[in-house]
Amino acid sequence: MIYEEHLRAAESAGWSIDSIRWDAIDRGAARDEPHILASLRDASLIEGYLPTFAPRLMLLLWDDVDATAILSLELFEGLKHYTALRRYLEVVGDAATRSSEQMLVAAREGTRGITYDRDSIVTYLTHFMCSELFAAHFFRRLAEQTREPVLAELLEYMSKDELRHSAGAGALLRKRVLADPKVVDEIVAAAENFRHYGSDVVDIPLAEQNDFEAIMAMNRKIRQLCGLSPTEHLMEELTNG
Ligand SMILES: [Fe+2]
Repeated sequence: MIYEEHLRAAESAGWSIDSIRWDAIDRGAARDEPHILASLRDASLIEGYLPTFAPRLMLLLWDDVDATAILSLELFEGLKHYTALRRYLEVVGDAATRSSEQMLVAAREGTRGITYDRDSIVTYLTHFMCSELFAAHFFRRLAEQTREPVLAELLEYMSKDELRHSAGAGALLRKRVLADPKVVDEIVAAAENFRHYGSDVVDIPLAEQNDFEAIMAMNRKIRQLCGLSPTEHLMEELTNG
């Protein structure tokens, strides 16, 4: 069962809120990186969106028990990320974080009109898989950029979690491809029109959308699943006129 494998992976990756060295945070170094703090605020809004985003997907996937289980892990670990990011920003004394709960509620409020159509479930799952992959690269890049060591550690944990989440979504899609190979066309089309679900609550910077490394990783992932990557598909279409 897909869930058991991913549950085991999640448990063995195990880091806890208490394993973060909150007392060792270098507040001065953190405050010297306002652009990184701004990215953490955005990331916390995306992670804090999971309690309304994940159930929307889960309700559509009620008859795919593995999918609901994988999304439950996403929900659980997303909330852990939200909590860790909030705590970090609070310890650092980031002034903009004081109103973050109201900001999160306002961000969720803006998504209340979003509805999902069950016929497009493969598209949403593909966007979810790719969003998690982009998040993994985003956190890893921030970990490399920051000069604050505790944040670097936290971001490394979170980046690995996101890679696992992306792999979980990949396993759900693989199951669908095995059941019906025609699904491949929808996955490739969804990857070509990738939209990060975090765009529902924050403006995803263009630089991240065009993250070359993440795009290459996405290509590899789609090729593993479908035998053809979005770039190869586009090339094929161009060649065929
Ligand atoms: Fe995630």
